[in-house]
This record gives sequence, C-alpha cells and structure tokens, in this order.
Amino acid sequence: MLKSRLLALLLVLAPAFSWAAGEVHLEDAQIDLQDKASLQRGAGLFMNYCAACHSLQYMRYSRLAEDLELTPEQVEQYLTRGDLKIGDLMKTGMAKGDAQAWFGKAPPDLSTTARGKIGQEDWIYTFLKSFYVDESRPKGWNNTVLKGASMPNVLWELQGIQRPLSDAKPADGVCARGELDAKSCLTGFTIQENERGRLSEEEYDRAILDITAFLTYVGEPARLKRESWGVWVILFLSFFTLLAWLLKKEYWRDIH
Ligand code: HEC
Repeated sequence: MLKSRLLALLLVLAPAFSWAAGEVHLEDAQIDLQDKASLQRGAGLFMNYCAACHSLQYMRYSRLAEDLELTPEQVEQYLTRGDLKIGDLMKTGMAKGDAQAWFGKAPPDLSTTARGKIGQEDWIYTFLKSFYVDESRPKGWNNTVLKGASMPNVLWELQGIQRPLSDAKPADGVCARGELDAKSCLTGFTIQENERGRLSEEEYDRAILDITAFLTYVGEPARLKRESWGVWVILFLSFFTLLAWLLKKEYWRDIH
C-alpha cells in the first residue's frame, strides 16, 4: 500500500524534477511576494524596460495599483504615462507584425509565463542574467538559458555587456553549467572594465529579482492574498491543536 502510494507520488513529481534538472543550471530566485517594495520596484522596471514589447494581457493597471499599494505618485510615474488609462488592460503598444519583422518572433505575453511550472521563477531570473554578446546573431545577443533567443539584452545598460567564459567539453560531454556550443561548456561570464553597466553585480541581481517577483505576482495575483492567509490558517490550526490537547488532558484526568 505504502509502496504503491510512494510510486504514485514519484510519478506525479517526476516531470517537475526532470524539468528543473534540464540542461541549463538555474539559479535559485529567492523572491518574496509579501515584499511590496520589491514588487513595486519590479513593476517600475517592467514598465521601463519590458512593456514596450511584452503585454500583460490579463492584468489591469488599476488592479496592479491596488495589489501593490502604489501611491498616486507611483501610479502617475509608472502606469499612466501617455494616453494610458488606469482601468486599461496592460496590452503592448507594439503591433504583432512589426515585432515579428524586427525580432523574427513576436514577444510573448508575459502574464502567465511565471505560472504553473515548478521553478519558473528560477528560469526567468537566470534568463535575465544569462545574456551575452554573440556576434554571429542578428541582434548581437544570445542567451545560455534560451539558446538563440530573439530577445536582445534590454537591460545591458544596467548590467553591462557580458562575454562568456568557456572550457572544452569533458569526455562524457556533460557540462555542469550548460553548454556554450557543440565543443565547449559555459563556465561563467565576464564584464570588461570599459563595458560595465550602471549597476554593480549585487544591484543588478536585486533588480532582476524584483522583476521576477513582479512577473510571478502577475502570473497569479491571487497568490498574494493566499500567502498572507496561509499564516493565519497555520496560527488558527496551532491554536486549535493546543485547545484539543488541553481538552484531552482535562478528560483523561478523571479516567486516570
Ligand atoms: C525589444 C523587445 C523586447 C523587450 C524590450 C523585452 N523583450 Fe522579452 N522577449 C522578446 C522576444 C522577441 C522574445 C521571444 C524570444 C524567443 O522566444 O526567441 C522574448 C521572450 C521573453 C521571455 C521568455 C518568455 C517565454 O515564455 O518563452 C521572457 C521571460 C522575457 N522575454 C522577459 C522580458 C523582460 C523581463 C523584459 C524587461 C526586462 C523583456 N523581456 C523585454 C522581446 C523583448
């Protein structure tokens, strides 16, 4: 009985594990959905650097403002520039056809990118960290997480210009951090002195963590509330357990 249950559990979890253990090494994105300041910064960065190409078609600016507790100034600054209205859905201004022509691929809607798959936060975070210069590509950029990505590194001014470091592939052909090309493994990235970005490495990691947290929230806005309820549910259950234990003690006293 126990064995078959364990087996069933393994079968259910197997796809999640195999996905997480794909070819590329993903970094652990320690996002905190209760950290409103992080989500606010993420929203600001998204509007500045991503919204020109990517829509969040299921999200309304008004819901965002409410959930993230944005001040009227922040709403003005981030969300209602130009002819945007606070009640609008967050659709992109870029026409699909233009995007297709410019990038070879239309930028996907990101409202559900962070939903569903286990480890998707880690994927987005590592993706935003893994752009590097590749002269052989039409836009001059490549990405180790999404090989041949048609998205350029839109954050290069912040991050600086990364160049890949590599080693020859070992005999078994398995690269610990993912492969760079058929013959070599990626070992890391380097940024030359004169190609540094506006942010230090820690600041950049913080910025993309904020964007990742924001996209995770957008993928499932209800999770914000659910997570804060979770604490209350656990408190309630602990209290209830204590009560039950006290009651039991009371009843058994007479019996002993
Ligand atoms: C200049 C247009 C452009 C901008 C700006 C842009 N992207 Fe992209 N993005 C793309 C394109 C094109 C793709 C499709 C890449 C592919 O599949 O080859 C993409 C793909 C992605 C994906 C993968 C989605 C998936 O499900 O496959 C993520 C995540 C993403 N972008 C996040 C961002 C974030 C975060 C920003 C802002 C920091 C951003 N993008 C800014 C054009 C853009």
